[in-house]
Formats: sequence, structure tokens, C-alpha cells
Amino acid sequence: MSGAQASPGSAPAWRALAEHRRAVKDTSLRELFAADPARGERLGCEAVGWYLDYAKNLVSDETLRLLFALAESAGVQSRRDAMFRGEKINTSEDRAVLHVALRAPRDASLRVDGRDVIPDVHAVLDRMKRCAEQIRSGAWAGHSGRRIRNIVNIGIGGSDLGPRMACEALRHRADRSLRLRFVANVDGTDFAEATRDLDAAETLFVVCSKSFTTLETLTNARTARAWCVQRLGSERAVAKHFVAISTHAEAVAQFGIDAGNVFEFWDWVGGRYSLCSAIGLTLMIAIGPEHFREMLAGFHAMDEHFRTAPAQRNLPLILALLGIWNHDFLAAQSYAVLPYDQSLARLPDYLQQLDMESNGKCVDRDGRPLAHGSGPIVWGQAGTNGQHAFYQLIHQGTRLVPCDFIGFANSAHPIGRHHDLLMANFLAQPEALAFGRTARELADAGVPQALIPHRSFPGNRPTNTLLAEALEPRSLGALVALYEHKIFAQGVIWNIDSFDQWGVELGKSLAERIAPELESGVCAQPPHDSSTAALIRRYRSLRGRGGA
Ligand code: F6P
Repeated sequence: MSGAQASPGSAPAWRALAEHRRAVKDTSLRELFAADPARGERLGCEAVGWYLDYAKNLVSDETLRLLFALAESAGVQSRRDAMFRGEKINTSEDRAVLHVALRAPRDASLRVDGRDVIPDVHAVLDRMKRCAEQIRSGAWAGHSGRRIRNIVNIGIGGSDLGPRMACEALRHRADRSLRLRFVANVDGTDFAEATRDLDAAETLFVVCSKSFTTLETLTNARTARAWCVQRLGSERAVAKHFVAISTHAEAVAQFGIDAGNVFEFWDWVGGRYSLCSAIGLTLMIAIGPEHFREMLAGFHAMDEHFRTAPAQRNLPLILALLGIWNHDFLAAQSYAVLPYDQSLARLPDYLQQLDMESNGKCVDRDGRPLAHGSGPIVWGQAGTNGQHAFYQLIHQGTRLVPCDFIGFANSAHPIGRHHDLLMANFLAQPEALAFGRTARELADAGVPQALIPHRSFPGNRPTNTLLAEALEPRSLGALVALYEHKIFAQGVIWNIDSFDQWGVELGKSLAERIAPELESGVCAQPPHDSSTAALIRRYRSLRGRGGA
């Protein structure tokens, strides 16, 4: 495996941080800002058009020094270089981790098992471009000769969340004459609602599945096939109304999709890291190949920043270390992603998979139980809506919830005062979270004594603020790559494999065992626990299939 590495918790750098935490536990952000009028300028950093203000974290210069020492002692740099060299750093699956190759320029070279993968990447991008252009121009005719006006993306997890999030984020750059729909859930409602008003003659299904074995996706794809064939009256319609994206060409062929309509990717691309691969086809069709390339350029620029920038100016590394400080030393269990742009409303969902499937692990790379925490819970919602839902707990609750505020100087829809009002809130919330409101301030403002405990804000709630000029393909690409590399760096420090996902397997195989029982009533052997068995009986009874 990885060559046993000492637990990070026992490393001197980790112990120094724990010691330091004890020494600074009563320090407040008010004090830190009062002691250094330049703090707001000093603790800021810019890369690829993104400005990160991290001054409102509970860190001193000494904290940062110790955190950078931790990154060095954990070998973030050498592991990063190993990833970029195409080494098999996903040890439990014996795979390289090369999503960075998907956005590397044509003249780059990156080898996996001795093969330069960049020509393969660009060959697929070129085919995607031809496909996207044919659909956008109307040259791709459906079975009955009509042009395609509806794209239905079928996929789940990494084969859904990325394209879905990015299509919404960049909708102001999309061809609005195309209707985009996404079907992920095996719940038939998802398929039925997505297709209820579509004309099959004008609909293209983009079936995305890295493995081409995923129950949800294959079930939806079969339903889509039947829906299409029934409406268009011929099996031959499949050739004009289905394309597939997968690493498993044979499984796609077995399903019956023409080899010419299959776009490949490779096992060195993790599902949740696959937005830049052919999995992005729906997005490319929506926004056009040029905008897609701009997004790839944004990703690549952030890759290069992560690869080359010194630690103290390295945005992904800084975000990673602040997260480690908040989660491992200040005991924060989660963090909130709060985009102040309606078009980024799906970013929290996307980052949830990216982060939680990557770093939600309880053993290290050598299979030993972790002696420290690992990936946090990720959640969030677009501002300002979240302010009227859960910010109460973030401001005054008993749990520490660090937040990432993400905003833009310009809006895709500059209507009246809307954007300045949005951004006033974007700036006000981190200020309120950091500095709070003291009992003394409330008393001075004439607040009755009895209300002061209720109206006080403790402050000291850490936040990062990320600001860019506008939400565009390039800034979106850079933002996603920023989080990818942040998560990578944290995984290195926690000494876990961020690129496997064994934790999703057990539930999948149990569901495969239960499905026939729900249908036939014949209990599998060995029997289930009494709770699951009783629920199966009750379900069957409610469906009129036998006694409870
Ligand atoms: O949820 C598990 C998972 O394997 C994810 O990692 C992946 O993104 C998703 O299922 C979909 O997998 P596939 O693209 O192979 O259908």
C-alpha cells in the first residue's frame, strides 16, 4: 500500500498546533483585528481572478506558521507532485488521479502507465465539440428528421451534480432555445416529471455513467429507451436519440447505444472529479464549445496555481489548512458553503459529494483507524435565502459552523439596486459573525436588560470570503478546481485516500438483495434483522402484496 506513515496526530507539527490552541483559546477576532489594523489586507490572497479574504478566521500569524509547517511535514507538496506526475496515489483502487489532465492544454504531456493521455483527452474534446455543434446548429436530426431541442442528462452523483450545477451556474451563457433536464433519482417521478412535456422526436438522452452499472442510471436509461422507442415507433430511433458517456464501452454496446455515439473517459478520472471529461457534454451542448474551453482554462489556471504557488500564497492550501484548524483544533463538525449568486444555488450540493465522498473516511491509507477527525459535513444554500432559514444557528447557536461566502462584483442581471443589496448582505454577514454584538453595546443602545442575553451575538465565528469579478466559465472552473485541490490537500494531511468511495457499496448491495424480496415476498437467506424484516412485510402489505 502506501508505506506506513505516522498518524498526523502524533506528528510534532500537529502537537505544536494542539499546544498553540490551548494558548490562544480565549483570543477573539475583535482583539486580533484591534492589534493589527492591516490584518484585513494582510490576510488576503488572490489567484486566477479569485480574491480570498481569510482575515476573519480565528488564526494569528503563529497559527498560520504552524499550519504551514504541518502541510510541509505531511508532505502535501510531494504528494501533489505525485498526483500531477500520474502516479497511482489512489492506492486502494490502484489508480492514478489525473483529473488535471482533462483540462491541460493540447501541447502538454501527462503519462499514465507510460502512455501520454493528453492526445486522448483532446481527441474526446474534439468529438464532443462536433457533437455539440451539430446539436446547436440543428444539423443533428432526430429519427423523424426534426432538430433536437431537448437534452435529458441521465446520471447520478458525479455523473449528474457537476453538469447540473454548471449548467445552472452558466445559464446566462447557454443557448436558451435548448431545454435541459436532469434525471438522477431511481424514483420514477424524476423521469416522469423531466419528460412529461417533451416531444420524443426532439429529445436527446445523454446517458452518463462512469461504470455503466449504476442501478439508478441504468434503470432510468432503460425507461428512457422504452419511452423513446414507443413514441417514435422504432428501435432504430435509439441511434439518433441516445449518446453515452462511460469508461465501459462494452457495457454501453450491450445496452444498445451506437459506438459512434459513445464518448469515453478513463479510470484515472474519479466520478466526482469528472466535470471536465465527456461527462460535461450536456454542459458543452448548452453553453457551446468555446465557453466550455474557457471553463477548462479556468480549471487549468487554478491547477497551475496550486502546483506552483508558494504555500503562503497558495489558495487551495490556505483554505485546506484553515479547514484543518477549524475542524481538528476548534472542533467544528461542518462548514457551510454560501454562494451569493442565485445561479450557484447548486454549488453546495456539488461540493457535498466532492468533499464528503472524498474525505469521509475513518481509516488512513494503510487501513489503520484514524486517531483524528477527517472530512467535515458540507452543507449550505444560496444567500440571501439561507439568512432567513438557518443563519440564526450560525450566529447564536451552540455549534461552531465555519462558512465560505462566495460572491461576485457583477451580476448577470444588473437590475436596479438588486446586486448592491445582495452584496451588502454578503459583506454584512461575515462582519456580524466575526464581531458579534456585546452586552455593553446593547445596553448603550438602550436595550432592556432582560433582552440583552437574547440579543447578544457572541461573534468569533470564522468565515472565508471569496470574491471574483463575475460568474463566468473561467471563474467557475477556477472555483471548482480551488475546492478540488483544497480537499486533496486536506486528504494528504489526514493521510487518507481521498479518491476511493468504498462506503457507498454496502447499501447498494443490500438494496439489490431487498428489491426481489419486495416484489416476490421470498425472504433472502440469511434473514434480515427483525426491524428490516418487519418493514419489508409492512411495505408489501401497504402495496397489497401479502400480510404484515
Ligand atoms: O455514489 C457512488 C458513485 O460511485 C459515485 O462515486 C459516482 O459519482 C456515482 O456513484 C455514479 O457512478 P457512475 O458514474 O459509475 O454511474
